[in-house]
Amino acid sequence: MNFHVMTLFPDMITDGLNTSITGRAIKAGIMSVTAHDIRDYSDDKHLKVDDYPYGGGAGMVMRAGPVCDCYEDIVKCIGSRPRVVYMTPQGYTFTQSMAEEFAKEENLVILCGHYEGIDERALENIVTDYVSIGDYVLTGGELPAMVVIDTVSRLVPGVLSNEESAQTESFSDGLLEYPQYTRPADYKGKTVPEVLLSGHHANIEKWRHEKALERTKKYRPDMYEEYVSKHPEEFT
Ligand code: ADE
Repeated sequence: MNFHVMTLFPDMITDGLNTSITGRAIKAGIMSVTAHDIRDYSDDKHLKVDDYPYGGGAGMVMRAGPVCDCYEDIVKCIGSRPRVVYMTPQGYTFTQSMAEEFAKEENLVILCGHYEGIDERALENIVTDYVSIGDYVLTGGELPAMVVIDTVSRLVPGVLSNEESAQTESFSDGLLEYPQYTRPADYKGKTVPEVLLSGHHANIEKWRHEKALERTKKYRPDMYEEYVSKHPEEFT
């Protein structure tokens, strides 16, 4: 899978993703991340890409020209018109199922905004998906883009090792993860729950499921309610 990020801060994207699991997948040629500098498409002698908003108000707006020209260059390079995800607090909240949809694409363009946003006409021309990573405002779309790329990349076949992907499955049952422990069995007087040392697999599974339910109920009552409605037999 190929990610194309349109940004004013290409180093942020490449520095962030060329490490850890995404870095390993890029080196192995399983996925690619290309950061396209929108500033390269400025027609201004000072390479400016923003201007004052029509109608007045605080902040600057990214101009349509450089954004659209950058996209058209990507289109020319890959020979198709890929989906464009615009990272914005004014979008649908990012979810695991959205990530599963994006993972089906061969090429995915991610557009990062800055300042007070991007000229609406550029968005109308090229954007297919408006995506927010949560109800808070960051200084730009680069960190959100990295969140999306990281999440989607772990769904791309070959990015995770078998062991790593086995761990992924447990979230998809709609519950939060149960607590994990490793050696030593006694850490400064805090011991590991007895059942985990018992070797009794059925009891261990039961304990983990109970802990997952407990946590989900506490931290994500919305997810818990949904789980209860989908598994009524467990709660009768
Ligand atoms: N840009 C600034 N804040 C953002 C958010 N919460 N999600 C996506 N893009 C953003």
